[in-house]
Amino acid sequence: MNAVTVRVPAKVNLQLSVGPCRDDGYHDLINVFHAVSLFDEVTAVEADGFRVTVAGESIADVPLDGDNLAIRAAQALAAYAGCDRRAELRIRKDIPVAGGMAGGSADAAAALVACDALWGLGLDRAELSEIAAGIGSDVPFALLGGTAVGVGRGETLTPALSQGRFHWVFAFADGGLSTARVYAECDRLRMVMGVEAGWPHVDETLMAALRAGDAKALGAALHNDLQPAALSLRGSLALTLAAGREHHALGAIVSGSGPTCAFLAASEEEALDLAVALRGAGVCRSVVRAYGPVPGATIV
Ligand code: C5P
Repeated sequence: MNAVTVRVPAKVNLQLSVGPCRDDGYHDLINVFHAVSLFDEVTAVEADGFRVTVAGESIADVPLDGDNLAIRAAQALAAYAGCDRRAELRIRKDIPVAGGMAGGSADAAAALVACDALWGLGLDRAELSEIAAGIGSDVPFALLGGTAVGVGRGETLTPALSQGRFHWVFAFADGGLSTARVYAECDRLRMVMGVEAGWPHVDETLMAALRAGDAKALGAALHNDLQPAALSLRGSLALTLAAGREHHALGAIVSGSGPTCAFLAASEEEALDLAVALRGAGVCRSVVRAYGPVPGATIV
């Protein structure tokens, strides 16, 4: 085998509850991740050094050096396994860059699975997940997929029971938002408003909605503590969210640290109508439909 291709999904956060800032600069979270059918593909090809190429729309901001999370993941895997093999990583991006859908983390997870197979390492999922957590908080979930509750930085995962398929519409914005900057803005807003961050808890109403496959209840329970910070940094997102609500979204929320906005629809048909309405409203760069949950990084 001298090339392996892995398909990996984007995520949306159904609940993102942010606790106080820790001494290490991270925040303790309750992070209910949900993998959706919007995919990047990473092909690992045997090479004499680590290299990356990226294809897709709006990829100007993707680093092509050692800052690229996929390269960092491949390097970390080689170091962990004590292996001197190298790889070129060819990334095909459909997940928006710096969009709050964990696209960079997805590519890192895909690189781990692809290089593990390419180099014949045969690491188990627990080992890959440990390496993944060292690359970024959202990387372990991109390996796992489905719907899962993340605690700690979001890297410690428990799969969540969920029934049926949920239909989503995503509105992509021009340009991205830095995750670190959005967390910092969240802390700043809390300080200015004198809000003490409490210890986050899992929303049992949301978990019950997932178990019942109840899109209406899920839409009402969607929650993102980073949303006020994303709106503070990118005021125009309020218009995007309002347009979705006006066109019957069951829930409208900023995805993770944004600026992508996520809308839950009652059915595939309603998602189609909502996507058409959002395109017509001119409140975003582009609109895509997707469903969830879907599996994590998978060899194709
Ligand atoms: O883990 P990752 O590198 O993806 O995180 C990017 C940035 O987001 C961190 O440097 C930190 O500023 C912020 N972050 C946080 N708390 C988390 C996860 C991320 O403050 N639980």
